[in-house]
Parts: sequence; C-alpha cells; structure tokens
Amino acid sequence: MPLALAPGLLLLLLLASGARGALVVSVPSSRVQTQPGSDVLLGCHFSLGVPVELMELVVQWKLGNSLVAEFDNVASYRRPGASLSQEGLQVGNASLLLPRVGGTDAGLYTCVVIVPPSRESRQVELRVEVPPHVSVWGTEVRAGEQNLVTCNVSNFYPGSVSVTWLRDGLVVGGSKTAPSQLGPTGLYSTTSILPLVPSIPEASVSYACHVQHVALGAPIQEAFRLSVLSPPRLTLLPPLVTLEGQATLQCRVSGYHPAEITVQWLRDGVPLLSMVSPPMKEPDGSFALRSSCILDRPESSAQANFACHVQHPALAAPLERTAVWIVPTSSELLAWVLLGILLGLLLLLLARVVYRGCNISMSKIHRGQCGPEGSIIVLWCEVEGRLRATDQLAWARLRPGKEPGRPGELSEPLLKGESEQYQISTWRCPLRLGRERLMSCLIICSAGSVHGPFSCTFQPGTAGRRVQERHITLSSAQGVTPDTDLSSCL
Ligand SMILES: *[C@@H]1O[C@H](CO)[C@@H](O)[C@H](O)[C@H]1NC(C)=O
Ligand SMILES: *[C@@H]1O[C@H](CO)[C@@H](O)[C@H](O)[C@H]1NC(C)=O
Repeated sequence: MPLALAPGLLLLLLLASGARGALVVSVPSSRVQTQPGSDVLLGCHFSLGVPVELMELVVQWKLGNSLVAEFDNVASYRRPGASLSQEGLQVGNASLLLPRVGGTDAGLYTCVVIVPPSRESRQVELRVEVPPHVSVWGTEVRAGEQNLVTCNVSNFYPGSVSVTWLRDGLVVGGSKTAPSQLGPTGLYSTTSILPLVPSIPEASVSYACHVQHVALGAPIQEAFRLSVLSPPRLTLLPPLVTLEGQATLQCRVSGYHPAEITVQWLRDGVPLLSMVSPPMKEPDGSFALRSSCILDRPESSAQANFACHVQHPALAAPLERTAVWIVPTSSELLAWVLLGILLGLLLLLLARVVYRGCNISMSKIHRGQCGPEGSIIVLWCEVEGRLRATDQLAWARLRPGKEPGRPGELSEPLLKGESEQYQISTWRCPLRLGRERLMSCLIICSAGSVHGPFSCTFQPGTAGRRVQERHITLSSAQGVTPDTDLSSCL
C-alpha cells in the first residue's frame, strides 16, 4: 500500500514547489580561441528543471555592452550571420553561432537568459588569435662577408608582433623587421633580417630569434648557431728531393672552416696515396694542414701532371693546383749540393766580417827612438773598431820592480822635477764600415836614459765593453826591452 502511493506523492510534492528549480546557465569554462575566417559556436546552456515555454524566454548575447543577438519571441541579430537555434532554445541550448569570425568578433561575450522572474548570465571570452610559426634561414654564413640571416615569422593573428635577435642572450642591434603582411588565409606573416659579417669564432656563439605575440603564452626563442664557412687557400710547397732522388710533393691547405675537408693528390687525374697531417687550429679559428705524396721513382714521373685537389663545403667547385714534375738529372743534383756548400761558406765569411766590425782590437805598444843618443823615445799605441766619441787611450808610467799598488800618474815624475819631459798626442782616423782607429803617441824627452814599465789603457766611454791594457818596459842597458816586436824609428 505505501509502495503504490509513492509515485503519486512525489508528483504532488513537485507541483506544490511550483515545479521549477533555480535557473542555471553554463558556458565553457575556458576561453574560446579560434583563427580568423572560421565558424565559432559560443556554447551557452540553461536549465530550469522543467521544459521552458519559448513565450516566456528571453535570451541575449552581448559583446561587451553591445547586443549581438537576441531572442524575444523572435530572434534578431546585430552581427550579420550570427544565429541561435530555436529548436535548441526549447531544450536549453542558447549557443551562438558566429560564422567567419574576424578580429572585431574577439572579446568578452555575455550569455543572458531571462525566464521571469529569474535572470541569469555567464561570460565567455572569444579570442581570434593564431600563434606564429618561427623559422630561421640563412645560418650558413661566409666568414668576413656580409650575410643576411632571416627569421621567418608566419601565419599569426592579429598582425602585431615583436621580433628581436639575441646573441648569447643579449639583444643584437641592426636587425630590421618588415611590417606584417596579410596573407590569403587571413593570417599575417613577416620576416626579420639580421645582417652579419661573422668571423670564424662566431660559430660557437648561441644566437636566437625572439618572437613575442599575444597568442603566445611565452615568447618563442628559435635558437641557432651559425655555420661559418671559410674557403681554403691552397699553396704548393717546393718538393723535397733526397740525394737518392726520392721526391715528396707537398701542398698546404689553410684558412678553412669547418674542419671537414678532403685533400688528395692526383696524377693525371688519378688519385695517389697521399698523407694528410691532422688539421691544426690557427689563432683565428681556421684550420690548416699539409698533404704530401711520395714519388718512389720520380724518373718515371717526369712530365706527369700532379695536382693537389681540395674539396670543402665552402667551395662551390673543388680547388686544384697543378705541378709539372721535372726530374732533375744527377749532375743538376750535384750542382744544387755545391751551390748549398758555397752559400754556407759565404754565410760564414759574412759572419766573420760582421764580427770583426763589432770587435775592438788593440795593438801592442810600438817604440821608436830618435834624436841624439836616443834622447827622444816615442811610444805608439792604437786601437781599432767601432769606437764611440767618449772612448780614450790613457798612458801611465808604472812603478818599477815588484812594488804593489796602482801605477802613478804619468805627469807625476814631471812634477817631481825629474829630468824627463812627456808629451801625448791623440788622433782619430775613420776607416771603412763605420770603423775608426784611435792612435796615441807618447813622446819622452830625457837627458839620461829612460827605463821602467809603461802602460797604454783603452778606456771605453760606455759600460759593457772591455778595458784593454798593453805594457812595455824600457831598460836602461839596452835602451829598450819591449814585450812586443821591435818597431822602426819614426
Ligand atoms: C546546441 O546548438 C548548436 C546549434 O545552434 C549545436 O551545434 C550544438 O551541438 C548544440 N549543443 C548541444 C549540446 O546539443
Ligand atoms: C616562411 O615560411 C613559410 C612556411 O613556414 C614559407 O612558406 C615561406 O616561403 C617562408 N618565407 C621566407 C621569406 O623564407
């Protein structure tokens, strides 16, 4: 009995509560993003718990504060092409269809549902936006030349975009971004150009094209590295020839980047077994190597064309240098060897001349004796070489015997009133090759015999050169006992 009553009671209860629930309006929880030209359905659903009579229903769609579409007994539209479905409204579907949206359709929409006395509204954002595609072109650049690296920013909406270039994270100047161009699909595209004159070390620098656009959550950074191309230079080196006549052809390849390279020797176009040194990195970042090829029996190679052949990514066509190998005869080889020896001797001779030019040489003291009974004694002393103006020759009379200490001044005996008189004369004569001769003459005039040691000293005017000294001892018995060879009377 109570079981049979239950459905009827439930119905009664519903009728008593007026049959309606609260008016609930729902829209998509996230914003609607679309691209221009497409059709968009802005969803909006409502429910009241019971079917709604269209007579008492009012639905409004607003963009900001302006009305876009309205249903109030009949549907009316301010935006051309917009539509609400009458059948949909009957089942609580107030979704608005906007065909072929453009930039002006974007904004915050409000879906208002009125079933008197209830009125509910929800908002949904429509964004007409397309994020850009970013690609970088022209990263293969030639060292030392003007290059244009292009950042292609395409298919974005709306047309406002910011493009900058980064080098190791810092903005680089000099780039140019063209105004955005509207394409046939209703999307914008643009290009930004970075002019560069790169050096080889730029290959290790990190670059990026940095793009900011409203449709992007975070900016796009299209990172890249430059592939710096530098073409090789090719030099043929003189062949190495041993005395036995074995020849090695050599070529040097330098200034290239990147390191990948193919170097080969060809004989009349046919590859030969070549040896290639490992590439060396030069201070400017480029690479250099040597390639050699040994000719076992060069006689048989006479008149053949040998080519050093280089292939490298920086070269449009392979690089080649050709050598025509002419075998030297054995007499020619001998001539070369003799020439070598002769050159060596010449160098030795030259070294000797240069050495002599710098060396300062001092002669021994020469003695002359003139006048009655040898009353005038002349002592000569000379020095030769690259002399300075301040260089001097100085005479001294040494204390005789084994007496210690420095010799006395030459003028001392004179002052002491002894029976000797002295006179010194000095000359400078220019010689060839910037050399000079400095000559000093000591004239001793004496009533009696002169004896004892004398010295002549070369005193360099500047430090760093050697003081040189020569001695002579005049003996009373013989007149003279020189340390040196006898010289003639002047
Ligand atoms: C609401 O109506 C639109 C047409 O106006 C339709 O495309 C859509 O599928 C409907 N939504 C639901 C949930 O029935
Ligand atoms: C830019 O990229 C698009 C494809 O993403 C391509 O069709 C177009 O030719 C490129 N433009 C330039 C200037 O490279």
